[in-house]
Amino acid sequence: MGWPYRKLVRPILFAQDAERAHDLTLKILGRAGQSKFACAALNSFFAAPELPVEVFGLKFQNPVGLAAGMDKFAAAVPVWEKLGLGFCELGAVTWYAQPGNPRPRMFRAVADEAIVNRMGFNNSGAEAVAQKLVEWKKLGLWPDHPVGINLGKSKMTPLEKSAEDYANSFRVLRELADFFVVNVSSPNTPNLRQLQDQAALDEIFAAIQEQNRTQNSKPILVKVAPDLSFEALDEILELVGPRQIAGIVATNTTITRPQTSDSRLERIYSETGGLSGQPLRVRSTEIIRHVFRQTRGQLPIIGVGGIFNADDAWEKIAAGASLVQIYTGLVFEGPGIAKKIVGGLIQKIKKTGVRNLKEAVGSA
Ligand SMILES: Cc1cc2nc3c(=O)[nH]c(=O)nc-3n(C[C@H](O)[C@H](O)[C@H](O)COP(=O)(O)O)c2cc1C
Repeated sequence: MGWPYRKLVRPILFAQDAERAHDLTLKILGRAGQSKFACAALNSFFAAPELPVEVFGLKFQNPVGLAAGMDKFAAAVPVWEKLGLGFCELGAVTWYAQPGNPRPRMFRAVADEAIVNRMGFNNSGAEAVAQKLVEWKKLGLWPDHPVGINLGKSKMTPLEKSAEDYANSFRVLRELADFFVVNVSSPNTPNLRQLQDQAALDEIFAAIQEQNRTQNSKPILVKVAPDLSFEALDEILELVGPRQIAGIVATNTTITRPQTSDSRLERIYSETGGLSGQPLRVRSTEIIRHVFRQTRGQLPIIGVGGIFNADDAWEKIAAGASLVQIYTGLVFEGPGIAKKIVGGLIQKIKKTGVRNLKEAVGSA
């Protein structure tokens, strides 16, 4: 579907405001998710070949997942698997429902295949999302692949009460997902990224793990910003052992901007917010490589940032990612992207002579 999407569907979507196009797409996918027929049809077009991998105790049919932010309201939970994705990360979800920042707050930088957003964690709150997830389960439409939830901090909660805010969301969602990602790296909630500071983060991890002492404890990951120094990253990594952190998601969007002489891009890049897509690719790979080296390959990494094709995904895997995620690539390349990337990764495995995906992780 690469060509038909780019030539037919994308022009229609891209003629609209970015968030309107997103809302429309999610509405259609949400409806499709409720229909077994529509799900079967999507699956027949977009199912990816099998490339199984096991990471932090969970089995993934393939390593290409949906990044956080695409399905903040758990509106289309059954569909992501039908689009060939090996897992999805819903949210960000915050304890309190909140509207996010005023619109417009999502901007496409088409020539650079990038997006600037300052959504500000618009979501229906942990309890409403939990209810939505229960509904999907009751309908018998729950996907077979692992489902993660990205946890954010409510804007109204003061920074010093953050741990409680994250732990509250985790408590009500704990039984409804397979893994959780502590998001302290969004640039769009005031001062959120200060929570990447070791002491603050330690408090959040402690509060969440306190709620996680059950027979069926869930893997807890942390998502980091690409704008962190390696020293600051190393401080986060020091918490991994003591707080039993299952992995790192690298990375969130960047507040930096690339050089450009294109006036249209300049206008988009002057918007406040986080930048995703192509211009983020190299920095996010650098972060992955650093984390892999520092942890001697012992800590699973989900690589995200500027993945549009199998080469980009392979670059992240070779740098140390066991799984990858896409957001902007899906917007620009369309629903066939996962199938294409997974197919391409299988070819790469054959060509490079590694025996399986696991052997490719951190190989370069
Ligand atoms: C509109 C938009 C909203 C996002 N919302 C979230 C979010 O709620 N939580 C989060 O951790 N990341 C969020 N992200 C970041 C993505 O999950 C991802 O880390 C980033 O976009 C880089 O990947 P990409 O280049 O494939 O888009 C968002 C990204 C975009 C473009």
